[in-house]
Amino acid sequence: MNLSDSILNRKSVRAFLPDPVSRSTVSEIVELARWSPSWGNTQPWEIIVADGAKAKRLGEAFETEGRKKTAPRPDITMPFEFAGVYRDRYMDLGRNLLNSMGIERDDQVARLNHYLNMYTFFGAPTVIYLVIDEGLNVPYACLDIGSIGVTMCYAAMEYGLGTIFLAASVHFPDIVREILDIPQNKKLIIGIAIGYPDKSRPAAIFRSDRASIDDICRFA
Ligand SMILES: Cc1cc2nc3c(=O)[nH]c(=O)nc-3n(C[C@H](O)[C@H](O)[C@H](O)COP(=O)(O)O)c2cc1C
Repeated sequence: MNLSDSILNRKSVRAFLPDPVSRSTVSEIVELARWSPSWGNTQPWEIIVADGAKAKRLGEAFETEGRKKTAPRPDITMPFEFAGVYRDRYMDLGRNLLNSMGIERDDQVARLNHYLNMYTFFGAPTVIYLVIDEGLNVPYACLDIGSIGVTMCYAAMEYGLGTIFLAASVHFPDIVREILDIPQNKKLIIGIAIGYPDKSRPAAIFRSDRASIDDICRFA
């Protein structure tokens, strides 16, 4: 697959098979991704991989919080509200995704199940957590985290793996810290769920839309 095909074929996967991803494969993905650019080559990322029993424990603990409808308490501020065109795009995504999964807008049970699925990482056997030291500048270090995160998503494709960035996976950082033994002075920025897509399910093949190039780009 050439680079353009990879770019056009990557998409967030929201239905994974339970098949484990070997640690050697995850290491190879990290090995590639560590060549991502960062501010002043500071490479502020620290990568903690949850798999096997630990990923399962995490999913169970998050699902419990989801059932209680506990409000997220992330380490970094998260946007839950949008306005204008950003709101339109956000709403479009939710509507199109639920449609593709055959979930009616007012089907509260199915919507809750989808939310809980998100908290169990859509069945992914592995979650790659990206954390930074609390002493770092959050907006800029987050750019670097985005940089390595995206590279991981593309690198994973080489192995037939699907990925999804999951803000939901850092909604309860204290739980992640406890289960993965992450010190208090490390901020959890994002988790990337990774696994083999269950292509029999619409949530694994759903493709989101994009604004047109005219809407997002101009030559000054
Ligand atoms: C920082 C970040 C956090 C995200 N968190 C979630 C999440 O918690 N749940 C979810 O279903 N998708 C999440 N996504 C996936 C986005 O919804 C997805 O990237 C977007 O809709 C574009 O679709 P695509 O990745 O399939 O191209 C996240 C993406 C990013 C970049």
